[in-house]
Amino acid sequence: MDNTKITLPDTVSLDDDAGALVIIDQTRLPGELVMLALTKQEEIWEAIKTLRVRGAPAIGVSAAIGLYLAAKEIASAVIDEDEFFSRLKVSADYLASSRPTAVNLFWALDRMYNTALSCAGQGVGNTVKRLLDEALSIREGDIASCRRIGEYGLTLINDGDGILTHCNAGQLAAVRYGTALAPIHLGRERGMNFRVYTDETRPLLQGMRLSATELVANGVDVTIICDNMVSQVMRAGLIRSVLVGADRIAANGDVCNKIGTSGVAILAAHYCIPFYVLAPVSTIDLCSDRGDDIEIEQRSGAEVSDMWFKKRMAPEGATVYNPAFDYTDNGLITALVTDRGIIRPPYRESIAEIIK
Ligand code: MRU
Repeated sequence: MDNTKITLPDTVSLDDDAGALVIIDQTRLPGELVMLALTKQEEIWEAIKTLRVRGAPAIGVSAAIGLYLAAKEIASAVIDEDEFFSRLKVSADYLASSRPTAVNLFWALDRMYNTALSCAGQGVGNTVKRLLDEALSIREGDIASCRRIGEYGLTLINDGDGILTHCNAGQLAAVRYGTALAPIHLGRERGMNFRVYTDETRPLLQGMRLSATELVANGVDVTIICDNMVSQVMRAGLIRSVLVGADRIAANGDVCNKIGTSGVAILAAHYCIPFYVLAPVSTIDLCSDRGDDIEIEQRSGAEVSDMWFKKRMAPEGATVYNPAFDYTDNGLITALVTDRGIIRPPYRESIAEIIK
């Protein structure tokens, strides 16, 4: 596939008949653009678990549509409301078990389930209709909030800047635009040129496979580096600022994001480079007081030792440790760029203020 000639469709949508979740299968990128139409909650759970769809906002929207589809299926077999609600709760808990770290998953499912509860007494059919509207509103809300993040983010960067990003917090991690890459995409639409550096993001290579793919497709100058080259490109003066996303932001401003984010932040502080985290307020979790309260997903060691190699590259007998996320201390973050504006330290206060 020639990535310079493709236009990526929305990452997550509902098909025209409102009968299937449609996603780009991100495990097939950059080689092939494959769309999947998923109807069963088991398929949607598997797609989230295996990162066919990934990135905090995209997971949230997928789960919302997934719960609507589950509600529709339950309603085809059940008319008793109590039974409908109890089966819907089982589906919500099931979808929530797909991945533990990105709070948008739980945020979207709670919003959907509470919408269903608010329809009690109106009949199962009406509840399903309301869930369809709610899922579409979560999806539309994601597009709008990513655009706002992009506008705010653009005020922090300049035409011609060298910008480093980590993992993929771009359009492939949301419905459109993304968070960390939204300013780049919006700026590009307006004729601005940035030099974006993306690290590979071991072990699943979201930076090389996904960020580079969407940036190339949108005509952005992008350079791929290995994860261990970040210090060198910063030292060489190639990076004016760092833009990353978040899977969950604690009440004190600590950020949980893709493994390796904290290392990039520590290096940025060393070289006095601004380090910005871009995320919607739905990524803030006031129930997590500090970063360490957030559960970090542990994934299979085979992603490190086997997945991208013709044969296993680790000796038998060695243990592989594979946490998918890490915590970046609030003191390393220059600003949080949200869909409600840019906030700065002290984060406990500025977060409480913006979330009111
Ligand atoms: O494991 P992934 O690919 O789902 O991790 C994604 C990230 O860490 C992103 O940076 C984060 O979800 C923000 S996406 C706007």
